[in-house]
Amino acid sequence: MPTLKFAVLPGDYIGPEVMTEALRVLEHVAKQENLTLSYTTADVGGAGIDNHGKALPDSTLALCKEADAILFGSVGGPKWEKLPPKEQPERAALLPLRKAFNLFANIRPGLLYSDLTDASPLKTERIPNGIDIVCIRELTGGIYFGLPKTTTTLENGEEQAVDTMVYKTSEIERIAEVAAVTARSRGKKVCSVDKANVLETSVLWRRVVTAYFAKNHPDLTLSHMYVDNAAMQLARDPNQFDVLFTENMFGDILSDEMAVICGSLGMLSSASLGTGKNSLGKPFGLFEPAGGTAPDIAGKGVANPCAQILSVAMMLRYSFGLDDIANKIEAAVRKAVATDGVRTGDIAFGKKSVGTKAMADAIIANL
Ligand code: NAD
Ligand code: IPM
Ligand code: MN
Repeated sequence: MPTLKFAVLPGDYIGPEVMTEALRVLEHVAKQENLTLSYTTADVGGAGIDNHGKALPDSTLALCKEADAILFGSVGGPKWEKLPPKEQPERAALLPLRKAFNLFANIRPGLLYSDLTDASPLKTERIPNGIDIVCIRELTGGIYFGLPKTTTTLENGEEQAVDTMVYKTSEIERIAEVAAVTARSRGKKVCSVDKANVLETSVLWRRVVTAYFAKNHPDLTLSHMYVDNAAMQLARDPNQFDVLFTENMFGDILSDEMAVICGSLGMLSSASLGTGKNSLGKPFGLFEPAGGTAPDIAGKGVANPCAQILSVAMMLRYSFGLDDIANKIEAAVRKAVATDGVRTGDIAFGKKSVGTKAMADAIIANL
């Protein structure tokens, strides 16, 4: 069995709370499976600012470069909101990390277990078998990174801010390929989401995606949908989708919606991959919950650790090629929340709920 060499960046607020539990689950599995874990924990985000004067300390970036994968918590929150925007944890740590490793493909599985449908805000009649879709989000382009990105004062004294949405053919083609490969392993259907009735970037996106699939994946079913309709269709009939595939900001928004119809943001894990390979010849990736630092519940020991634990499973699958162990962790999570009915408050809905640690204990008991 390989040595798993990864960087652990817990971040802020609930980040460290859920990371502690995810590592406990991983340590347990490692013992069972004879895996050697070699990980180092480092400050990132607000913790980086507080302890090193910088959201992405040089030592943290260096650690990531040495590692075969990054296990990330989440960053940001009210404590650092008064800093200049460009110095805040989200913009000064998370986005630069994604960019530094060229992690352009963000995979977010929208999975609602058939025995957990009561946790979804959708009526069970609409989703009798749960939900099983995937959101592929472009992660290093679009309006997040386009330049200019500025705030200026006009001659009349009022302020004006500009963000720029930019996409090039090559950026669209490489994420289209990830969507196609993902669909090939599932229901062979891709719905590309854009706003081609308004945005130039979306007109290009739609044209490039259409041509790319016609040339390289003619056997897959490709459809296109405007983002406003997609938001509506996700709530109306999520299983009409197989692979949802979209640009950076649309994917950010739609994936939170997807998370909640699948039960909770606290259940949604993600893998961010690029072209880079790690020392094992597997994809280098950053693995993180899709949700944030949840300052509203931080410090109370009630955050749902499942998204962080499921992000560990994704790391084992993608960056270490340990599919069986990833499956085992996913099955343990499912059994705990669905079969055993052990749930944190975000998925309990009036039923008895447990805290972060007890949730992880229930998962460990199923391993
Ligand atoms: P959020 O995702 O932190 O929280 C939104 C809601 O979901 C809150 O009510 C929260 O309690 C709940 N929630 C999220 N994760 C949960 C979990 N694991 N268990 C139970 N409930 C959970 O979004 P927000 O409030 O808009 O942002 C808070 C901070 O997090 C901001 O600074 C934001 O920029 C940051 N953020 C960071 C990341 C990241 O690091 N990847 C992602 C999203 C938001
Ligand atoms: C996410 C988060 C980030 C994003 C923020 C914190 C920069 O919302 O990972 O979904 O918008 O990508
Ligand atoms: Mn988001």
